[in-house]
Order: sequence, then C-alpha cells, then structure tokens
Amino acid sequence: MSLPYKYEGLEARFFDEVDGLNEFDDLGFYKWFIDANPGSTLDLACGTGRLLVPLAAQGYEVVGLDVSEEMLAICREQLDREGSHSKLIHNDMRIFHLEQAFANVIVPGFSIQLLADLADWKNCLESCYRCLKSDGQLLLSLYYPLEMLESGKTESRSSERKRVNLANRESVVALQSWKIDSKERRLRLRNVYQKFDAKGELCIEEEKEMEMRWVELSEVMELLGEIGFADSVAYGDFLLDGDVDGAEAVCVVAWK
Ligand SMILES: C[S@@+](CC[C@H](N)C(=O)[O-])C[C@H]1O[C@@H](n2cnc3c(N)ncnc32)[C@H](O)[C@@H]1O
Repeated sequence: MSLPYKYEGLEARFFDEVDGLNEFDDLGFYKWFIDANPGSTLDLACGTGRLLVPLAAQGYEVVGLDVSEEMLAICREQLDREGSHSKLIHNDMRIFHLEQAFANVIVPGFSIQLLADLADWKNCLESCYRCLKSDGQLLLSLYYPLEMLESGKTESRSSERKRVNLANRESVVALQSWKIDSKERRLRLRNVYQKFDAKGELCIEEEKEMEMRWVELSEVMELLGEIGFADSVAYGDFLLDGDVDGAEAVCVVAWK
C-alpha cells in the first residue's frame, strides 16, 4: 500500500486559513442528515476539525480519525479552546477497525480523493460500511474539477492562493499551480508555502505535491452497492434539492 498523503508543517498549521473549504457551506447539510439519523458520528479524515469542532461544540457525539498527527494536534487545540470533548484517532482511512459502531460516517472535504487508486477507495468504503450500525448512513463528499476541465488547459502557472497576515507583521503566502489529466482523472496540485518575517524576508519555504483523483459518480454509486449499501442518493452543492449535473461538489448519502 502506498504511503498516505501527510499534511504537515505550514500546510497543516495554515490549513484553516488557506484551504477555503468553508466556502462550500457544508456544515448545515451534514447536520441535517445527522439530525435525521441521531447517534454517534465518525468524521473520517477530520483534519483540523473544521466540521468536528463546531459539531462537538453543539453537543453532537463525534469521533475524528486522521492520518496526520499535526492536523489532529490542531484539532485537539481547537476542541480544548471550545471546552469540547471528542475522541481523536490516529489511523489510516483506508483500513481501520474500530470497536464502536456509528450511526453516521461523514467524509467531508473531499478527503477520499487523496487516495491514489480505486483499490484504496474500496478499502476505505468497506471500512466505513463495517463500522456503521445496521441502519447507519455514510456521507461521502466528492469534488469534480469541472471549471479546470472546461478551461481546456492541462496546467496552470503558479499563482497566489492566499496571503495570511500574522501577528508581529509576519506573513504566510500560499501559492499553487496544477496539472490535470482528464483521461486518468487525476489532478496534481503543487503547493508552495512561504513564511516571511517581520522585515518581509523569506524565512521558511515548503513545497508539497498532492494528487487528487476523481471517479465518475455512477462508478462511486455502483461501488457502494457492491460493498453492500442498500441505497444511495447524490446531492449537488450540499443542497437538499441540489442538482448533481454541473455541480463541482457532490455529496453521496448511502444507507446500510
Ligand atoms: C482536504 S483535508 C480535509 C479535512 C477535513 N475533512 C475538512 O473537511 O476540513 C484532507 C484530510 O485527509 C487526511 N488524509 C489524507 N489521507 C488520509 C488517509 N489515508 N487516512 C486518514 N486521513 C487521511 C489528511 O490528513 C487531511 O486532514
């Protein structure tokens, strides 16, 4: 099995400021489905707790799992700051066996797409199925880079993604360029993180390459059926009436 993609260093420390996943406004969508099927929730690849922390603060019972110690440490800091409690598990989402069975498993932030091949996706979804209660539901988020595909370009130049001004006049700049392979359905992102000191001089530079793959929605639904999920429905843009046609963000809800 290949090594998992590890968020670390500046990429982990500034994930919340740089990644912009909150722009998808997805928390309400997850809450709606959890409320419809109350019980414990596993936040798979929970990262810094973008969803786990507000859910725990609002009284939901959430357990987080992630492979990055640094992302989990930030998640723990944010939970402590809120005075909330959640169990956090350091593990690989491809193969995990948990003693607890969950009413809900959520995989937000398109994290499954960091898994390199379909065998990894299958292992991950089978692990999700195994840890769900008999009437449990899985919420799996998927990202389709339609704008990049429609642009006709296969790669971009590096451009500034985000500038974060810190205390003491320090700053962090995140740059990104991409290459896309529509046949292989792989998007390769090259992320550069630069930290500048108070005098504006570069003091740290970190470069990371990340590959995201996407799988046609029909194939995902078929795979869920093969694994044993009784039914699944896809929603576009984290809306209950969201059309999946033309949506870059899709969430599949699958019932055991
Ligand atoms: C884009 S972030 C999303 C984080 C969070 N779910 C959110 O929505 O903000 C992807 C997360 O997946 C985690 N991850 C990647 N590969 C993983 C693996 N094989 N097992 C567990 N976590 C993994 C990363 O460490 C990272 O925290």
